[in-house]
Amino acid sequence: MCGIVGYIGKRNSLNIIFDGLKRLEYRGYDSAGVAVINEKNEINYFKKAGKVKELENEFNGEVLEGKIGIGHTRWATHGEPNDNNAHPHFDMNKNITIVHNGIIENFKTLKKKLTQEGYTFSTDTDTEVLANLIEYYYKSKNNFEIAVRLALSEVEGTYGIACMCKSEPDKIIIARMGSPLMFGLGKDEIIVSSDAAAIVNHTKNVIYLEDGEMAVLKRDSFQIKTIDDEDIQREVQQIEYDLEEIEKGGFEHFMLKEICEQPESIQNTYRGRINFETGEVKLGGLDSVKEKLINAKRIIITGCGTAWHAGLVGEYIIEQFCRIPTEVEYASEFRYRNPVISKDDIVLFISQSGETADTRAAMKEAQRLGATAIGIVNVVGSTIAREVDCGTYIHAGPEIGVASTKAFTSQLMSLILITLMIGKHKGTISESELKEIAKELKALPEKIKQIIEKRNDYKFVAEEFKDSKNFLYLGRGFNFPVALEGALKLKEISYIHAEGYPAAEMKHGPIALIDENMPVVFIATKDKTYDKIISNIEEIKARKGKIITIATDDDTEINNYSDYILRVPNTLPIFSPILNSIPLQFLSYYIATARNCNVDQPRNLAKSVTVE
Ligand code: M6R
Repeated sequence: MCGIVGYIGKRNSLNIIFDGLKRLEYRGYDSAGVAVINEKNEINYFKKAGKVKELENEFNGEVLEGKIGIGHTRWATHGEPNDNNAHPHFDMNKNITIVHNGIIENFKTLKKKLTQEGYTFSTDTDTEVLANLIEYYYKSKNNFEIAVRLALSEVEGTYGIACMCKSEPDKIIIARMGSPLMFGLGKDEIIVSSDAAAIVNHTKNVIYLEDGEMAVLKRDSFQIKTIDDEDIQREVQQIEYDLEEIEKGGFEHFMLKEICEQPESIQNTYRGRINFETGEVKLGGLDSVKEKLINAKRIIITGCGTAWHAGLVGEYIIEQFCRIPTEVEYASEFRYRNPVISKDDIVLFISQSGETADTRAAMKEAQRLGATAIGIVNVVGSTIAREVDCGTYIHAGPEIGVASTKAFTSQLMSLILITLMIGKHKGTISESELKEIAKELKALPEKIKQIIEKRNDYKFVAEEFKDSKNFLYLGRGFNFPVALEGALKLKEISYIHAEGYPAAEMKHGPIALIDENMPVVFIATKDKTYDKIISNIEEIKARKGKIITIATDDDTEINNYSDYILRVPNTLPIFSPILNSIPLQFLSYYIATARNCNVDQPRNLAKSVTVE
């Protein structure tokens, strides 16, 4: 997704902006650019389709000297990803320059109005329209802040912007509506970004802008106001993680690092929240809604992509252990299908980034209808985390790889903790069952380590199947969503077509696809559906499909049915989705690297999808 970096201070801005843009690369982008105001108050810029490194290699550093500047990584929405459409954009007089995340929905109307006023445009973007609109007001008001305010009051849509004005070269103005933006306070300098990853290297003291706010940033001062010109006082917050946590630490890719971090990330999700003797769970963030959760007549879970898959597992386990009717909705559908929601309903919003536009929109709709909105979020201080009624952080740590891995297993762990909390107090989980679950939970990090140690086995299987054109993933019960997640991981990073199904559904259609070229991954760990899964495997074998099974260490029977086996330790059914997901993450990672795919920044994808 698009990324913004800005700098104003005593240092040369360019290196700081480039460094920040590189830290935002993980979000996914197709072009990049920078604009800097020099000592003579001239704006110089450079922008280009491609990667930040290419931009850095090509520009002439001399020309871009200056202590105030803005930079951008663009993920195209309006206009193809070429040099011209890359940000920063300018008004036609080159007085205003702007970088923008989001979509200006009424840009065509604004463009028509400006064209009638004699303005001309040289790009296909909505952002250039905003630059001209600011200039239009600047010409009559002769005040940059007022011009930005008046322009934004006409804009419909979403934006996070940072802009500079040649006629007032001592400031950067930023504003936000639906797209994250923050600034870090250093000594005599301010660093702006849409993501804390670009700031943490310089300072941990940050201020998050809220929707409908703008800020005027100078080297040694700042002022926050609403777009309607009301003063805002905002507390400085601390970024909670270190630079090392967002670096690769010797791993070839962030995705591999994050897969291998799961013994710790899972532990961080439950640390201090469960009593291992009794199984009692305490989630501080949910104290205010605990009674409501225990007495809930219905729970709805929503999210997108991987978070939606986590929600599906949540549905299975909440219904199984708490006997509360639970539904899972795509966040992108929720808002537009006029859902039947009342103030008695509880809606869980799962989001790694806490910024996904579809999930935010669903949250707003649920809140408008009076439901209690609970967040299950990773990024601390993110928009969803701030706007839900209450919530629990998954504490998986920064996830940089576009393909979600450790956040998924931590989302599952959070849902398990919520389930245990409700189940104990409702009496739907017995004391002895709770103790057994708590004991197994403690053993989980060690079991994840055992899976990680076997990664060469997964690599071997990946080599065998790296040229396959299609894959099927099948699972049942708690592991049906794991099949969906396995297929999504493979699709997004290796570009191999893959589908996930409940194993029994296969004979209602997908079985027509089976021949000797179709690898079928079965999640076949021992639980009450094991015998049924074996029957489903037989059906595939009879049609010559290649069988890859995820099976438990002590299962020898599975040898008779599998062409390849990915082993995992035994665990309780409630934890099997966590363990079974990890070999699937490795499988897709090794297939993608064997195909030379860019696993951390797969084509067309963004880490955080902040447009609808
Ligand atoms: O940040 P979020 O959890 O809200 O993101 C939701 C999806 O966009 C995300 O899970 C996406 O499907 C990932 N690329 C999956 O690996």
